[in-house]
Amino acid sequence: MSSENQGQFGDTIGQPTVTVVASYDDMSRRAADIVAETIASDPACAITVPTGSTPVGMYAELVRRVKAGELDVSRVSIFCLDDYRGTTWEDPASLTKLLKHEFLIPANVPDELVHYMPTMADDAEQATAAYEEAIVAAGGLSLAVIGLGPNGHVAFNEPGSGPETRTRVLDLTQQSRDQNAAYYEAGAKIPEQAMTMGLGTILDAKRIVMIVNGEAKAGIVKQMLTGPMTADLPASWMRLAGDRFEVILDQAAAAELDQTR
Ligand code: PGA
Repeated sequence: MSSENQGQFGDTIGQPTVTVVASYDDMSRRAADIVAETIASDPACAITVPTGSTPVGMYAELVRRVKAGELDVSRVSIFCLDDYRGTTWEDPASLTKLLKHEFLIPANVPDELVHYMPTMADDAEQATAAYEEAIVAAGGLSLAVIGLGPNGHVAFNEPGSGPETRTRVLDLTQQSRDQNAAYYEAGAKIPEQAMTMGLGTILDAKRIVMIVNGEAKAGIVKQMLTGPMTADLPASWMRLAGDRFEVILDQAAAAELDQTR
């Protein structure tokens, strides 16, 4: 399946891998396998992982493995991918809060190894630069697990974002704010700005794994993999990572791809 994209990725080294699995549960298990492999080969590695609805199954599987004694996350540094500007993780509408409840707390990840987005910093420029430096100081990201927004965003890199972008504050689109309101109880107020790892920050990871499920994203998946690399669809820049980039899709999300080759 990965061969269908030959020649469309410019000067990248190798081609992204597109893995199509039968179900959401299979997608979650495959992503959990990659997280576990990464940690097994370097127990003190640094990784980033997403929030939202897509990774819930992956987190459940990782927590299961930790509780079964199959996975040790006691030395892993976790860098948060994104959150809203001006919210702490205790805020009702905080992405980090979801991450804490679905993964960090039940898996018992030591809090001192969790790098929270410095969303409350007065000097965002200085704080985001320090965040980038902390990633470098941790040895770089061994793995970035990411999702795909319905508008093509990765983390909160909204349309208009280029592959050179670093961790920063940016304005959210109304579409993303509406999308994320669905994670919370009715009436949750979604802020207008976010702080996000940049696309360039994510592209520096040794391995990038994107998980996508559901028919609603089949069209954007196809555009991301087969259309031009463009800031209109920020996720398309992930193809610059060549064979460091793997997309794991359930059948529904892969429905518009040519799977005959
Ligand atoms: P979702 O969000 O997992 O809730 O679909 C993905 C994203 O916006 O990155």
